[in-house]
Amino acid sequence: MSIELPTLDIIEGSKEIATTGEETYAAKSKRSGEAKKGKVYIESYGCQMNFADSEIVAAILKQDGYSTTDSETDADVIFLNTCAIRDNAEQKIHSRLQSLKALKRKNPKLVVGVLGCMAERMKQSLFEQEKIVDLIAGPDAYRSIPQLIELAESGQKAANVFLSLEETYADITPVRREGVSAFLSIMRGCDNMCSFCVVPFTRGRERSRPFQTILDEIKMLSDEGFKEVTLLGQNVNSYNDEQGKVNFAELMYRASLIDEKMRIRFTTSHPKDISDELVSVIAERPNLCKFIHLPVQSGSTRILALMNRNHTREDYLKKIEMIQSKIPDCALSTDIIAGFCTETEEDHRETLSLLEQVRYDYAFTFIYSERPNTPAAKKLKDDVDNATKQRRLQEIVTLTKRIAAERYAESIGKVYEILIEGDSKRSSEMWMGRTDNNRVAVFPKTGQEKAGDFVKVRITNATAATLIGERI
Ligand code: 5AD
Ligand code: SF4
Repeated sequence: MSIELPTLDIIEGSKEIATTGEETYAAKSKRSGEAKKGKVYIESYGCQMNFADSEIVAAILKQDGYSTTDSETDADVIFLNTCAIRDNAEQKIHSRLQSLKALKRKNPKLVVGVLGCMAERMKQSLFEQEKIVDLIAGPDAYRSIPQLIELAESGQKAANVFLSLEETYADITPVRREGVSAFLSIMRGCDNMCSFCVVPFTRGRERSRPFQTILDEIKMLSDEGFKEVTLLGQNVNSYNDEQGKVNFAELMYRASLIDEKMRIRFTTSHPKDISDELVSVIAERPNLCKFIHLPVQSGSTRILALMNRNHTREDYLKKIEMIQSKIPDCALSTDIIAGFCTETEEDHRETLSLLEQVRYDYAFTFIYSERPNTPAAKKLKDDVDNATKQRRLQEIVTLTKRIAAERYAESIGKVYEILIEGDSKRSSEMWMGRTDNNRVAVFPKTGQEKAGDFVKVRITNATAATLIGERI
């Protein structure tokens, strides 16, 4: 299968703002002037990266005099930060745009913008399909949002979907909500070109943020009282700065030294880039969490080749063995796609047997959804019927739940350090927190602890998704 790289797109027929190029001092002072601008409401969909991007968008807007609001009825500008990974993610946005029509009728000056992957994928066709949309900005175009809003306010359709080879927003400190745990993007884009995936086309080429800016931000988060940070990227473990001098293992090592009490997580990783060095660093440094999300997608080598995953079933299982030998208590999770093109019952059974072999704590499971213009859409037939896809998905879900329940039951009687995140969803008498290996735990409040504390909890019971315990 040939590898096609994303192109840089220019929209015709709508005003373009280039993000590169110096802005004059006068223009800058005018834009960052004291004058209060409108209120912006941002709704985020999809992966954690999108949620982190919304915090970057909020920072860019704040710098420009806008404020953010949690109420859509109060807003002058509404942004949907979108996902395009599966068709149903896009359908959600289409119906959300329908529901915004009433607000636009009441306030014709309201600017409605679509940000993120769906904006990048659909480009100007989104204006044609959804008349309510005034503005679109792709993932590398967020610095130009203030100018795009001005254009939209003057009644023009405004768009910027340039993909960049350099943009990492390294100099922008995201506007985060207070809390225990923070997300921090360390790289953007993806060069892997899995045949089913739209991400290389919507988020562009891989690029890493300078390592010192990451370490500085972790220090700042620690000073602000955050107790956990998750390093984010489409493919974090191919992180590479200073021509390979600082790879992901090195970055994790340096990150772990900043605040030895601060937990460090990462997501998401590709099996080909899980190195011995990285796993050794995770094993050695106590505050690097013993949890790895390692998408496999399928247990069949034949399907993995069609997916252009660059690893076989055996390669993947070898990596798992290496992880389990260096970190015996490491928890694992994965992503699985059911019903990829040409998948047979035998391929499906290989996925089930891989799940039995690895024994994940959790699996994110998806039905294959053909995405326009991806290599799979161009070259392969989406030939597994929907009922079969659904049935296979169900079998995968049932099996992963059974295995997770068994694994969680093994925790009963053991003591874990839990980082308290807040009240449990079910009861304000209980705390909810996580173990180092990312298991959710709930336990009764004693009055002696608060959110953000690390406490020791003995596990007394477990379901397939939650540990139940008491503080010791
Ligand atoms: N159809 C179904 N699932 C997909 N994913 C990516 N593209 C598709 C698609 N076209 C899944 C993969 C990936 C996760 C983020 O989403 O499992 O790891
Ligand atoms: Fe998509 Fe594959 Fe890149 Fe993940 S690694 S974002 S599945 S192309």
